[in-house]
Amino acid sequence: MSLSTFIPPDGYRYLTEADVAHFLDHGWLLVPDAINRAYIGRWMADLWDRVGYDPHDESTWHTEYLHLPRHREVRAEEFAPKAWDAVCDLVGGEDRLDEVRERWHGDQFICNFGNADRMRQPTADGQLDPEQEPKRVPERPQDRTTWHIDNDWFRQFLDSSGVALTIVHCFTDILPDGGGTILAEDAIKGVCEFFYNHPEGLDPPDHNACCGHVRGCQRSTTLEAKAGDVILLHGLLPHTNSVNYRNYARVITNPHATLRQPYDLDRSDGEYSLVESVILRAMGRDSIPEYKPIRERLSFYPRTAGFKRAKVQPELDRMIAAATAKGLDESTVDSVYLKGDEALREHEMRNGYDLPIGPNGLNMTQHK
Ligand SMILES: [Fe+2]
Repeated sequence: MSLSTFIPPDGYRYLTEADVAHFLDHGWLLVPDAINRAYIGRWMADLWDRVGYDPHDESTWHTEYLHLPRHREVRAEEFAPKAWDAVCDLVGGEDRLDEVRERWHGDQFICNFGNADRMRQPTADGQLDPEQEPKRVPERPQDRTTWHIDNDWFRQFLDSSGVALTIVHCFTDILPDGGGTILAEDAIKGVCEFFYNHPEGLDPPDHNACCGHVRGCQRSTTLEAKAGDVILLHGLLPHTNSVNYRNYARVITNPHATLRQPYDLDRSDGEYSLVESVILRAMGRDSIPEYKPIRERLSFYPRTAGFKRAKVQPELDRMIAAATAKGLDESTVDSVYLKGDEALREHEMRNGYDLPIGPNGLNMTQHK
């Protein structure tokens, strides 16, 4: 196989040779210290008001894992300039990225508050000893049942580029044993083969059927990172949450890079983007000219936005109550839901909330 990849005439904006090699070999890349710090400070400032937990009283952290809706968003290049450059390099140039969808990044936090008690053995009287040193329970990552690729708003084919990259924005550190995302590095091949053999594609939530083979995979990485880091995952790299064995709020967001057009897996000039090259390498091919989807492409309202957007009003109520308690009025609360119809219409277009509901409806239940 003599696969070439497209390198812009002026070279990459961010990637080094080592970055390219890492992405091709592992399917992901860490861009350190990439997030504009002002947004971490501004958006994290009212996290505890939004979730309604007392940061100093763990007994109020009643639900360990929470997906929140988005209240604020800024252009991707403003939010994390270095990471944006890396995204452009990985997908083959800025002009391939959709100009509206996923072009703004926001504060749709995914919080894992953890629970250190699960590591402690009960004493003879059934109580947990707070002084006991926690013991990690060995777990084979492959045995987790939550392996998936991100795709809740389109019919997935091998060449679908609605999620060219899954992005992890770290708003806090991700500590060892602290709930970092697990990546199944050698499982991309099985996902590609699955979609090659299923040209009819899959609609969410059934797309997770493409991850059954992860159980037999050998190479996994559990992410550890610093606040401000950005991790870029190939869209077909299976991943899952891991257990947070600590009492701390691990906070990330999980947006994506979306392309205007499907991947071209049969380029006459051989100048494949790096995200296309990962698929070809996984399949052991120079090109895949025979692959053609046999059903129409579909896009729809993000299925998991159902339960997240149902949280908007209770969060707004808590944010307004917190402002009032400080002697401030509602106009000081920063949320797109308080900025009028035009702002909300733009927000809905950017996030696919203007699309019809898909064939399997909405997910109205908090998931992990
Ligand atoms: Fe995911």
